[in-house]
Amino acid sequence: MADTDTMIKWKYPLSDIDFGKEEEQEVLRVLRSRWLSTGPVTERFEKAFSGYLGGGNAIAVSSGTAALHLALTCLGLGEGDEVILPSLTFIATANAALYVGAKPVFADIVGKEDLNISSEEIEKKITEKTKAIMVMHYGGYPCEMKAVLRIARRHSLYVIEDAAHAPGAEVGGRKCGLVGDIGCFSFFSNKNLVTGEGGMVVTRNKTWAERVRRMRSHGMEALSWDKYRGHLSSYDIKGIGYNYRTTEIQSALGLVQLKKLNGNNRKRKKLVEIYQEGLEEDNNISIPFSKFKGDPSYHLFPILVAPRINRNRVMQGLKDFGIQTSVHYPPVHLFSFYRRRFGFRGGMFPKTEEVSRREVTLPLHPRMNREDVEWIVKKVKMVIRACTP
Ligand SMILES: Cc1ncc(COP(=O)(O)O)c(C=O)c1O
Repeated sequence: MADTDTMIKWKYPLSDIDFGKEEEQEVLRVLRSRWLSTGPVTERFEKAFSGYLGGGNAIAVSSGTAALHLALTCLGLGEGDEVILPSLTFIATANAALYVGAKPVFADIVGKEDLNISSEEIEKKITEKTKAIMVMHYGGYPCEMKAVLRIARRHSLYVIEDAAHAPGAEVGGRKCGLVGDIGCFSFFSNKNLVTGEGGMVVTRNKTWAERVRRMRSHGMEALSWDKYRGHLSSYDIKGIGYNYRTTEIQSALGLVQLKKLNGNNRKRKKLVEIYQEGLEEDNNISIPFSKFKGDPSYHLFPILVAPRINRNRVMQGLKDFGIQTSVHYPPVHLFSFYRRRFGFRGGMFPKTEEVSRREVTLPLHPRMNREDVEWIVKKVKMVIRACTP
């Protein structure tokens, strides 16, 4: 168990939660209602979320990972099918393909400026077994969706968006999550919209939405909530299901957090601009997405240190100043499980691997202010200078 007294007290944690009085009140209201599993508050959260995205259907689930699993299951992906996805992502994106028995086929990223999966690389990976493309909007910066959708249409492939980083991000005037066929969000504690654990599946397709809704709760046509209300005395099971329900406590948090999302994303944008201004002149640093045109959700602030600099020493140096950093991400294809199972090796996705060697994610969350970022910028420059051979 985590013991908060012995946990590192970061001066600047990588992320932080923006919870206040309203979250406390809404959670208390749920506790007093005496109904905790998926029910009316979750229904309100789902409606508010799809309203925020500008349409479609939203189904709240227990995590982003559950959302990805349901998305692939709902589309009927399985044994013998291939799914194209980035290796520069969180493990859950790729594992979702394995859950349904499909083969993950990785494609390299665009480059050091754009860390998203490359549409050109996607096209090279298509075979007669390919059934879907799973994009992940890295750091909340939308992928080149126009090209991805064109490829998908040409080859009759599904497009699944892992939008865990991208609540509120827009591409081509549409909110991420509703650009492809199915979108998956995570509300884990470090995300832009936080419920602790939690996720959402979104789609414009009503049939898929109903399927996901059933699979979320054991394949049942209705929820325990309906039984509780006396709306249901028996039920049938027509297909496989899981328990991927969320709780009313999480949905209450989600409703308040959703109201704060645009404001918090704007705060993140300002902080990113201060970071960029402070670091852009440093020859030992390059800043991905610095020329990005569009509407990201600014989930992460990644930098790349020059190749001759030892990235791990930089991270240790920043840790000594109480600045928490991270690497987004170790490439999935180089995890021992993936190497062993699929024969992946180093050198197969050179751009992904280079970024993964050089990347450092700096603290970014809406509770930071200008002074915080300026202080971190100073320390980053100092540490990098000290680590330059
Ligand atoms: C890109 C990405 N995909 C999927 C997930 C999985 O979400 P969860 O932790 O809610 O299962 C996460 C986050 O944790 C993520 O960052």
